Amino acid sequence: MTDPLVIFTPSGKRGRVAPGTTVLDAARQLGVDLDSVCGGRGICSKCQIQPGTGAFPKHGITVAEDALSAFNAVEQRYDDKRGLKPGRRLGCQARIQSDVLLDVPPESQLHKQVVRKAATHRDIRLDPAIRLAYVEVAQPDMHDPSGDLERLKAALAAQWEIDNLQTDLAILKNLQTTLRKGDWKVTAAIHHTSGASRLAALWPGYYEGPVAGLAIDLGSTTIAGHLCDLRTGAILASSGLMNPQIRFGEDLMSRVSYAMMTEGGAGEMTAAVRDGLADLVRALADEAQIPAEAILDVTLVCNPVMHHLALGLDPYELGQAPFALATADALDLKAGDLGLPTAPFAGLYILPCIAGHVGADAAAVALSEEPDRAEALTLIVDVGTNAEIMLGQKGRVLACSSPTGPAFEGAQISAGQRAAPGAIERVEIDPATRTPRFKVIGSDLWSDDPAFDSPVTGICGSGIIEVIAEMRRAGLVDATGLIGSPEQTASTRILPDGRTYAFLLHDGEPQITVTNADIRAIQMAKAALYAGARLLMDKFGTDAVDRIVLAGAFGAHISPDHALILGMIPDADPVNVTSAGNAAGTGARIALLDKTARPRIETLVRKIEKIETAIEPRFQEHFVAASAIPNGADPFPLTRA
Ligand code: FES
Repeated sequence: MTDPLVIFTPSGKRGRVAPGTTVLDAARQLGVDLDSVCGGRGICSKCQIQPGTGAFPKHGITVAEDALSAFNAVEQRYDDKRGLKPGRRLGCQARIQSDVLLDVPPESQLHKQVVRKAATHRDIRLDPAIRLAYVEVAQPDMHDPSGDLERLKAALAAQWEIDNLQTDLAILKNLQTTLRKGDWKVTAAIHHTSGASRLAALWPGYYEGPVAGLAIDLGSTTIAGHLCDLRTGAILASSGLMNPQIRFGEDLMSRVSYAMMTEGGAGEMTAAVRDGLADLVRALADEAQIPAEAILDVTLVCNPVMHHLALGLDPYELGQAPFALATADALDLKAGDLGLPTAPFAGLYILPCIAGHVGADAAAVALSEEPDRAEALTLIVDVGTNAEIMLGQKGRVLACSSPTGPAFEGAQISAGQRAAPGAIERVEIDPATRTPRFKVIGSDLWSDDPAFDSPVTGICGSGIIEVIAEMRRAGLVDATGLIGSPEQTASTRILPDGRTYAFLLHDGEPQITVTNADIRAIQMAKAALYAGARLLMDKFGTDAVDRIVLAGAFGAHISPDHALILGMIPDADPVNVTSAGNAAGTGARIALLDKTARPRIETLVRKIEKIETAIEPRFQEHFVAASAIPNGADPFPLTRA
């Protein structure tokens, strides 16, 4: 008699197994993702499946009522205590007797897909580095001198095939009480990384509490984190705080200078950023109402200077050519190494840096946006004080950074400020009357709405880009960035400003103007950004790109039309210029939820061609040509300037 045929859906995997095989064993034999935490003891219910009965012509199978063994006492006990959904069986208890079709519901799948709510619509595979394993450990015995840890390791090896387990003093301290409290039954959180397994936490008995992971995007201005449920991939809490290092300098280079010029300066900044990270961990755990010790894995992305300062490495070499990193490789550490108040032996994975000025945050953007897999030639621009730029298509990716300076963040602008309530973020200028109207952060109303009564405090990065682009469109500034022609100064909105002129954007308290110096600062910043992009295009051997992705918080707020009018980015159809939101944060979340993404990004980063703008003569040429508005290189037939 032939063995029963087993078909699993939705995977479609099929094969024959010996009669009497449990569904869980059949799944393992056929390579089907069916979860189990208790190792088949009927405790965890992670192995639930839904058998079908009757004819399934699509699958070429007819399933008898008794294709599976009858409900057994273990299932009955679970059903009485917790309740099984109608028709569901525990895969570790049900035995296959004849041909059967078994559906694995999403909650029982080991590697589920997590819906990603970002601009790119690919889902994230759920395969975290942390797995829970319930084990029964042999009790000590006068005839067996082995230690409790050795017996725990032996149990994990025998019951879960986990060998060479690494442990830590922090775990060892509580090991004996945990084993006895659980009556020699414990749940171990095992952290699997490339080739190694570590014990991240241990609980008495079967652990049903939270299992969380944290993805951190450590920026020079803000630190943002997503706290995720590692069982489901769901985001439990998201939060951000200002990087406390700001008191040592607004931008990266001033922080590197502080480290260079001040005795103990680097150490002060390391302590400050670690305090900030610890505060973020506590705030997120509070928001999600879980203990911070339930955080078992952490991923971190950041630029090279933040990378060094968070790790306690002196950023001195990053302040001067050739901008050598202490290490560019991905790092597999423990969260406790940075003093994070997570589980004591929680993992900490820091994505690899791409080059001296292109950090792990850019690697995370690459992981999220996958320029290497793009069919269309894709330019990705992450704008900050340093723009990180990538150009990729079909397996080839180039990257560089460009020194845009802090103007895009509102610094160096006379009325500039960070993006915060009260900051002007949207601007329109009527080309006929040259009258402006604007929106501020914190209000949905335009300023010419009679109900508009929000305080106006300054202008942020997206606002300054829009106002200058709108001024160009309305003829209030010429292509060289100057205000001053008789036609321009005839406008009542143009005011004398020393020996130059300024545009009156807000005639209230405070009065907000856009000066010629402001325009000059933005011209320099956008010329640097454009020159970096153009350099990558030269290296790629192209004059045009198919798609432009604006990454980062700033990228999310820039209007593509205005960026094109200014010539910040190469010419493109505005519909092909999109925002990826916080792509670095998404990349950190992918690396957290899917451990297979880690070797993937490490391989990609090694393949990325790094271009150093500082030693490329063409960068200067592009920079000079790009200072005009839009710029001196592109036709920009699609803009309205
Ligand atoms: Fe845990 Fe079946 S594997 S209940």
